[in-house]
Amino acid sequence: MQVLHQVAGALVAPGKGILAADESIATMSKRLAEAGVTPSADARRDYRVLLLTTPGLDSWVSGIIVCDETLGQALPDGTTFGEGAAAFGIMAGIKVDKGIAPLPFSGGGFVTEGLDGLRGRLDAYRSRGAVFAKWRAVFSPAGLHPRTVRANGHALARYAALCQETGIVPIVEPEVLMDGGHGIGACQEATASVLAAVFGELGAMGADPRGMVLKPNMVISGTGNEDQAGPAEVAAGTLQVLAATVPPAVAGVAFLSGGQRNDQACANLAAISARAAAGGAPPWRLTFSFGRALVSDALRAWHGLPGNAADAQATLAANCRRASEASGRPAVAAAGA
Ligand code: G3H
Repeated sequence: MQVLHQVAGALVAPGKGILAADESIATMSKRLAEAGVTPSADARRDYRVLLLTTPGLDSWVSGIIVCDETLGQALPDGTTFGEGAAAFGIMAGIKVDKGIAPLPFSGGGFVTEGLDGLRGRLDAYRSRGAVFAKWRAVFSPAGLHPRTVRANGHALARYAALCQETGIVPIVEPEVLMDGGHGIGACQEATASVLAAVFGELGAMGADPRGMVLKPNMVISGTGNEDQAGPAEVAAGTLQVLAATVPPAVAGVAFLSGGQRNDQACANLAAISARAAAGGAPPWRLTFSFGRALVSDALRAWHGLPGNAADAQATLAANCRRASEASGRPAVAAAGA
């Protein structure tokens, strides 16, 4: 367990966060097409390599999460993605869930699948250089059904325990979606009940909180709600839920962006960090594990053209630096990084 604790601690080291670049083949292909790039395995590899090889990325990013396809691909010099990431000072993580399926008798809820055969897949990913993993469950605040919460909490906990048994740090990602017209209160209520259930199941399955990272949503208003809570309200709601549900021994909390723009996600993270610091140091490190809030601008800048690569990487670097600063890293230190 000692190594798990060290890896979990390194993933959330001060000033560092985790880059989520683990879109499925279908989602990545769609995003490439939207950015004017013809989707292909090579285009998906080139894009992930562009992200990984961004100069200075390891100043702000501790780990990068990729999908099965990317972990099996090679960098231009022939090294595997896992070896390449390590050479750049970045830990490789792997998304191991198999996506969501409708859950019976849950009022339209979903359960994340992928436990069958997971032990063998984890062994294989470990031998390919993955030192941490990710499993995402999704919850809609509107009509959140207890069966959805229970089934996903159980699956997340079994996944986390299996990862730890295999020597891989699990990122546990229960996401209350921001889509919908709900207010921040509904998000707070749903997030509290989901996190309470998830940690109940993690305890029941014997998962070690010191060897895991929680990746939750921030407590925010639904995108369709005209009353959008500002960073101060987001920070208050988010920290209230975390304090009530997350065991102090958890190594770190790395927030997902959930579709927020970089400026929104960073403003909210900065408010959370500041409020947490003002209330005395919280027991867990607070940082980011953003996907879209870091990479969307870079993907648009790239367009699949080699001549745009430097601009795209500079855009990614700027977004990562802002997120790092929002997590509490002094801006002056980041500027010199
Ligand atoms: O599965 C989602 C990613 O881990 C986080 O992505 O920051 O775009 O929500 P996001």
